[in-house]
Amino acid sequence: MQLDSTQTQRYLPLRDHNVVLGVTGSIAAYKAADLASKLVQQGAAVDVILTESATEFVGPTTFAALTHRPVTVGLFGANSALSIDHVALAMRANVVVVAPATANTLAKIAMGLSDDPLGATILATSAPIIVAPAMDGDMYDNPATQWNVQVLRERGVHVIEPGEGRLASGLTGRGRLEEPARIIEHMRWVLGRGGDYSHRRVVITAGGTQEPLDPVRYLTNRSSGKMGYALAEAARGRGAEVTLITTPTALPDLVGVTMVKVNTAREMHREVLQASADSDLLVMAAAVADYRPAKPAPQKIKKGDEDTLVLELARNPDIITEASGQRLVKVAFAAETMNAAENAKTKAVSKGAAFVVANDVTEAGSGFGTDTNRVAFVDAQGNVEQLPLMNKLTVAHAVLDRAQRYLSR
Ligand code: PMT
Repeated sequence: MQLDSTQTQRYLPLRDHNVVLGVTGSIAAYKAADLASKLVQQGAAVDVILTESATEFVGPTTFAALTHRPVTVGLFGANSALSIDHVALAMRANVVVVAPATANTLAKIAMGLSDDPLGATILATSAPIIVAPAMDGDMYDNPATQWNVQVLRERGVHVIEPGEGRLASGLTGRGRLEEPARIIEHMRWVLGRGGDYSHRRVVITAGGTQEPLDPVRYLTNRSSGKMGYALAEAARGRGAEVTLITTPTALPDLVGVTMVKVNTAREMHREVLQASADSDLLVMAAAVADYRPAKPAPQKIKKGDEDTLVLELARNPDIITEASGQRLVKVAFAAETMNAAENAKTKAVSKGAAFVVANDVTEAGSGFGTDTNRVAFVDAQGNVEQLPLMNKLTVAHAVLDRAQRYLSR
């Protein structure tokens, strides 16, 4: 990925992507308007195709206003992008997403019917196809629908399982359309396939470890997990098979990433050693406690008469130093408050890392909790590559670009 002067501007992950959004006749069609809006905000060019029954729930004007593009309803309508060239949208699409997808539409796609613009586009496209079903729970669970879903999966269509909850019928069941933000995550995952990290296994750590003092207290640090999650998102977006080993954070789980939840350094140690043995890359962005309370109290520690309380600490394992694998490349982070480059060089050597990502955590907009970071890559020879302040996703891509140099061919 090229870094340019827009690095610190808002990152548009779907810039240069043409999305065909198929909307079908479900009450959840109103959520498709939000989806279209979010896609546009992320930089995508969005062509909407409505089925006739979708127009009973939401009109073309809504989508035209949100996407600034004509909306296709019938095959031969004046506004139809297909009236002159019936495969125009199919050819242009980088991805086709049908959300919501009714039972009827799933059946039609499975059968290969092309009696409407959506069916024709799906038949003609070579772009990945994503469907997000929404319907009554009994309809979704019906063997006919399940059969169609299975047929689509076998053909390589990416099916976003509907959620459980209260449905328009008033009943509770499995049939709720996935939330637009999550649908976009699926899209970004699918779009990443075939990227420069395809067939690579990548292990990332995130967050600050929590070392128990007693049943209600723990020692931790200010890590929000943002840097590690950005790395996982970037690696997923480049086709990697990603395992994210994370402590509790306020961030939502990432779609398409194996999420492993831990609390303590020793739990992280166990999971990292296991996951990285058969992986290509380990990036340790987590802030790991070097020490833990030696003897966590079995009961809540009571306030006594003493003015001071001495806490005995025991050393934690150094996770990155111990992680190993036949083809494993290791990248450490270094949270420094002074002499960042010098300390990072020492860490690269002592931890066996290909390079260290040094961030001065005292600098404004850098380090813990921020959306941006200013990092330098430092290797064991002391070579330093300083990067400007960038959002964490851009930093993550730069780390992956650099790591490519060390990965086995
Ligand atoms: O989560 P955010 O709010 O986005 O903040 C991001 C961050 C500031 C936490 C991140 O950018 C960062 O700097 N992470 C590393 C923090 C750290 O623990 O640095 P360190 O210098 O103490 O450790 C050096 C390296 O050894 C790190 O890769 C660390 O994960 C690893 N380590 C440390 C101790 C230990 N016992 N085992 C380890 O593997």
